[in-house]
Amino acid sequence: MNKRKLLLITNIVLLLAFLTQTTTVILFQIIKSKLVFEIHKTNGLVFILALILHAYLNWSWIRVNILKRSKKPEITPA
Ligand code: HEM
Repeated sequence: MNKRKLLLITNIVLLLAFLTQTTTVILFQIIKSKLVFEIHKTNGLVFILALILHAYLNWSWIRVNILKRSKKPEITPA
C-alpha cells in the first residue's frame, strides 16, 4: 500500500474515532451506560494510534512548517 492511500485511510479512521469519542462521552452524560463508557475507552486507544500514525505520515510537513527544519538535509561541500 502506498503512503497516500495509507494516509487517506488513517484520516478516515481518525475522523470516525474522533466522532465516536465525542459522541460516547456526550451519550454517557445522558444515559450513564457502562457499555458506552467501555466504547469510549477502547475507541480512545484507536484514536491515539490513528493520531500517532497521522503525525508520522505527515512528519515531513511538520518538520518544515512547525519545527522549521529545511526540507532536505544540507550537503556540505567536500
Ligand atoms: C475527542 C476526544 C475526547 C473527549 C472529548 C473526551 C472526553 C471525556 C470526558 C468529558 C470524560 C469524563 C466522563 C465522565 O466521567 O463523565 C472522559 C473520561 C475518560 N476518557 Fe475521554 N475524551 C476523549 C478522548 C479520550 C481518549 C483518546 C482516551 C484514551 C484512551 C480517553 C479515555 C478516557 C478515560 C479512560 C476516561 C475515564 C477517566 C476516569 O477514570 O475518570 N478519552 N473523556
